[in-house]
Amino acid sequence: MKINELKICYKVRSHSELSADEQALLKAATEAATRAYAPYSHFRVGAAVCLANGEMISGCNQENAAFPSGLCAERVTVFYANAKCPDVAVDTLLITVIDEKGDYRCEPIPPCGACRQVLVETESRQKAPMRVLLVGKDDVYEFASASDLLPLVFSGNELL
Ligand code: THU
Repeated sequence: MKINELKICYKVRSHSELSADEQALLKAATEAATRAYAPYSHFRVGAAVCLANGEMISGCNQENAAFPSGLCAERVTVFYANAKCPDVAVDTLLITVIDEKGDYRCEPIPPCGACRQVLVETESRQKAPMRVLLVGKDDVYEFASASDLLPLVFSGNELL
C-alpha cells in the first residue's frame, strides 16, 4: 500500500492588507449579502467577482421553500458573470458572510462542495486561474486558484 498526501497552500491576510480593488470587491460582496434571500437559514452570503475586463458583478444566496431549488451566492454570481460575459475570465472571486447585525462572521466561510465543482469548471473553461478570497471578521484567506479548494476534482474529461 502507498499513501498519497495532498497539500494545499493559501495565504492568511488581514483586512488592512487588501488593495483598493479588493476593498471595492469586498464592499460589493458585503452589500450583496444584505440583499440575500435567506428566510430559512438566515445565513447571508455575498459574493463578488472581478472580471478580466475590470467589470465587477456581485450576488447573494437565493433560497426556496423547496430547499434544493435555492442557490448559493457563489454560483448565482459566477453563473451570472458567465451568462453576461461568456468570453471574459473571472480573475477573482470574493466571498463573505454577514450576521443579523451586518457584521462579518468570525471565520472566513469556505464555499460548499457543489460551488467548488462549478468554480473549478469555470477555471478550466476560461483556461485561467480564478483567485478566491474568503473574508472573515479579521482574516482573509487567499487561494491562488479555485482548484486549490478541490483536489482530485471530477473534471469531466472522462465524459469527452
Ligand atoms: N450558502 C452559500 O450561499 N454559499 C456556500 O458556499 C454555502 C452555503 C448558502 C446556501 C443557503 O442559502 C445558506 O447558505 C445555508 O446553507
